[in-house]
Amino acid sequence: MSWVSWAHDVAAEKLAESLPRRWSHVQGVAKRARELKDTPGVDAELVEVAALLHDVGYAPDLAVVSFHPVDGARYLQSIDAPGRVVHMVAYHSAARQDAEVLGLEHLLDAYEDELSPERDALWWADMTTGPDGQTFTFQERMAEVKERYGAEHPVSRAIDRSWDDRLAAVERTEARRDH
Ligand SMILES: [Fe+2]
Repeated sequence: MSWVSWAHDVAAEKLAESLPRRWSHVQGVAKRARELKDTPGVDAELVEVAALLHDVGYAPDLAVVSFHPVDGARYLQSIDAPGRVVHMVAYHSAARQDAEVLGLEHLLDAYEDELSPERDALWWADMTTGPDGQTFTFQERMAEVKERYGAEHPVSRAIDRSWDDRLAAVERTEARRDH
């Protein structure tokens, strides 16, 4: 079985029934990752595996610390997911700043943000995919998240703090795609 089908089955089992809308988003992010298959210097298959698994920590039965990047990373580690995927999930889409706003940054100490093209690409795919799996611009996606959570929610405050980091990952990925 390929890593992609393995990841698909893991994510489907955890999200399809309990969180169908989240599962639609995840499938959209994976589809976006596949658009990178001809992008030089990017391992699109690794990005797709990480995309399929990036939000698995939202699954109700995986909530231990109730911070989904870490709940996801811990679970993935427990089922022997590839190491890079574990670390990419822990740090996906500005999880560091999300954790800081919540006072949970110590939970990320066990993981490393690898700052690679694949890590950037996961952020890009997540942040240019809407809640139902549709393709959004980065700006549309950020506006949608803030509206969904409300301006005062920690998620929205974390977006403001991490805007430049997020945009940089998106722009680096788009530059690689245009190459
Ligand atoms: Fe996420």
